[in-house]
Amino acid sequence: MTDPEKDVKLITNHTYGTWRAQKAWKKPLYVTSAEGVYFFDGENRRYLDFSSQLMCSNLGFGNEMIIDAICKQAKKLPYVAPGLVCEMKAKVTEALLGVMPQGLDQFFFSPSGTEANEAALKMIRQYMAPKYKIISRYRSYHGATSGSIALTGDPRRWFAEPVNKMPGVIFAPDAYCYRCPFALEYPGCNIQCAEYIDYMIKEEGNVAAIFVEPVVGTNGIIVPPKEYFPRLRNIADENGVLLVVDEVMSGWYRTGEWFAMNHWNVIPDILATAKGCTAAYTPVGITATKSEIKEYFEDRYLSHGHTYAMHPLAIAAVPAAIEEYKKLVITGLLKRVSDHLKMRLHELMTRHECMGDVRGIGHFWAIEIVKNRKTKEPFNTKADKASLKPLMVGKISNEALKQGLYILSWYNHFIVAPPLIITEEQVDEGIEVLDEVLKIADEKMVSTG
Ligand SMILES: Cc1ncc(COP(=O)(O)O)c(C=O)c1O
Repeated sequence: MTDPEKDVKLITNHTYGTWRAQKAWKKPLYVTSAEGVYFFDGENRRYLDFSSQLMCSNLGFGNEMIIDAICKQAKKLPYVAPGLVCEMKAKVTEALLGVMPQGLDQFFFSPSGTEANEAALKMIRQYMAPKYKIISRYRSYHGATSGSIALTGDPRRWFAEPVNKMPGVIFAPDAYCYRCPFALEYPGCNIQCAEYIDYMIKEEGNVAAIFVEPVVGTNGIIVPPKEYFPRLRNIADENGVLLVVDEVMSGWYRTGEWFAMNHWNVIPDILATAKGCTAAYTPVGITATKSEIKEYFEDRYLSHGHTYAMHPLAIAAVPAAIEEYKKLVITGLLKRVSDHLKMRLHELMTRHECMGDVRGIGHFWAIEIVKNRKTKEPFNTKADKASLKPLMVGKISNEALKQGLYILSWYNHFIVAPPLIITEEQVDEGIEVLDEVLKIADEKMVSTG
């Protein structure tokens, strides 16, 4: 017999909770099983997953195709060293060649999104030497380890400084129209957020790469104006700089395309991805590059690797997930439900004064809450998050969980990113709970007079 209370105590007393003060991890939810878009706790209460766990369980739980592929590989050949090859390594390479943006046909495998970015970072710095500076943006997250946290704009970096402050990382303003860093308005802004990157490159000197999330994930589900990436591609080319995109979260149909960059027909020089590539059934990161970078390393030492690089059991989930995404697109469900989700979120905004902005694409949306719609005064700040202050979004998502809805939040917004298999009825179920719990913030609005 399992004893959930005993298990929770054992775990929280002896393991570290991620990204938190440890005392804030004393009563985590105990999950016993999961199926489709739902998971269940020790008392068999059902939760609708409106954030695909960490925006990674793109195909929900219990996908037989992926489970079978992993089990077969576990029996046949769970592991061979990275320097040896096997049938599964060929299969995954072929599958990726069929879906990656054209020209990105050289792959490095790792066990996570963080490591996919770390590989990109090392490649950039060697390939572009002596240029070494990297332009990232404030509203970004690129991973937990030294290099990728140094590239990160959000407050998680603050705790890693000064020891993990990497020389040469500079931060650009975000393509965040709701709170434009230049106080301009689209389309009259002439995409100043992109133009300023051109200015930065020319003034800084020694810039090797622009490193960005095509649709910013955790830090706001920020979809840039349609001109942004074509212009960034030009700026990169004109200045001899690489355009590197972090599609760890935005890839794998999260935005309605294989990769978010496909929306703008812009091909980056390097694309890092993870999460949805296995729909979170196994941990895999992928760094895809154009062939010039591989050629550069033909007779130069690529000083990078992992014991579990291209781990056969882990990568077995990739071709299976790719087949599942293809099937899902054919059914038409993906497009139908993403339209429905968009409509329902905008409709929700008409009923909740606290909803300052709703933005997103595909199955990837943010609800940003404000105290005052006119002034856009936020409930909380980055600094509140960093100083462990209780946040309004935290209060609301805790209440949602009590009502059977799992939804992640970051200091002023909720991340609506359900598994791509969700139906219209299940979307409605989640919206119904949001309709209820958003009243908590509505009641704390500052009068707009
Ligand atoms: C855009 C982005 N990059 C990198 C990462 C790091 O990936 P991982 O947590 O798999 O190391 C994340 C994780 O959320 C992410 O969203």
